[in-house]
Amino acid sequence: MSEPRSIPMVDLKAQYARIRSEIDAAVAGVLESTAFIKGEDCGLLEKEFAAYCGAGHACGVANGTDALILALRAYGVGRGDDVVTVANTFIATGEAILLNGARPVFVDVDPATYTMDAAKLEAALTARTKVIIPVHLYGHPSDMDAIMEIANRRGIPVLEDAAQAHGAEVGNRRAGTLGHAACFSFYPGKNLGAYGDAGMVVSNDREFIARLRQIANHGGGTNKYDNVVLGTNSRLDTLQAAILRVKLRHLDRWNTERRAIAEAYATALAGVPGLTLPRERTGARSVWHLYTVRAQDRDALQGHLKNQRVSTAVHYPRPIHLQPAMAPAGLGPGALPVSEQLSREVLSLPLYPELPLAEVERIASEVRDFCHAGLARA
Ligand SMILES: Cc1ncc(COP(=O)(O)O)c(C=O)c1O
Repeated sequence: MSEPRSIPMVDLKAQYARIRSEIDAAVAGVLESTAFIKGEDCGLLEKEFAAYCGAGHACGVANGTDALILALRAYGVGRGDDVVTVANTFIATGEAILLNGARPVFVDVDPATYTMDAAKLEAALTARTKVIIPVHLYGHPSDMDAIMEIANRRGIPVLEDAAQAHGAEVGNRRAGTLGHAACFSFYPGKNLGAYGDAGMVVSNDREFIARLRQIANHGGGTNKYDNVVLGTNSRLDTLQAAILRVKLRHLDRWNTERRAIAEAYATALAGVPGLTLPRERTGARSVWHLYTVRAQDRDALQGHLKNQRVSTAVHYPRPIHLQPAMAPAGLGPGALPVSEQLSREVLSLPLYPELPLAEVERIASEVRDFCHAGLARA
């Protein structure tokens, strides 16, 4: 019998194969125009992505990390300020705070949705708190109604880290309009991914986006060589914008396909011993960037799946407050028990729109076999 196909976490070749002619035409158009920087696709993508989110304004930047760094700068964050966020995230969220000279203050997360525990937010706020950054992890929106109620009462801006959540919703509003501003990454494996690095900041606050745009383009004024404020070069280039415009047209369909896969996993893995499945908070709609389960025997399960040619990943093996780079936050082991426990238990299973449902069933059956055998071993 031939070996089963090896199943990757993400298959960007399969995605390209579906949209090759559209992408190739878009890339050829940019090459013909030679408008590699600030070409018309850049402005059009900003308009189209802002509209997709339901927001008024957007500014393309070089990547999602820059989106966070520059958004905090546009909020005036600096030395002596605190920025409140979560530790159960990709390191970029914390880097953006420290690189602006501010101190990250971490709030623990809700174990069911892996996102900021709003009940613990208020206690973390002080007169020094300049911005709150909830992270919509794995595509699931944070508890934004509760977070916004607290933030608005205290007059603190909320910056969504929506790097993993293009199209995620609370009620009938999308990520990008749930806080005061939002940062997106278009890293290739994201739900909306470029063919290189790219990012965007979205907001209804026109002046905020204007400030950010200025910083992202050398602090420019009306004339090319005016440098009004200290800025940097963090532009989204035209080739990436053209590719993203094509892919944006497919995003809703791909998110629907991701949901079907998440539902197939949920059905196939219901009630499996030693396994906790991800679920959506009432009123929230995930875009299933990742399907991340909690497993009591995570490392052994990962090893078993690897032997069966199924790729998996751990997002993330260490909550960022325990990374040496985040030492200025001043937290040690035990400070955030839920985040720390999750880092020992989480395992992301393959999920991408083109993943055949038959393969979801094969993965689920391997997980079931492993967990039932574990029960027998116990
Ligand atoms: C939650 C989160 N924030 C920020 C980023 C940074 O985005 P980028 O890789 O585009 O710099 C990422 C993506 O990698 C992310 O997952």
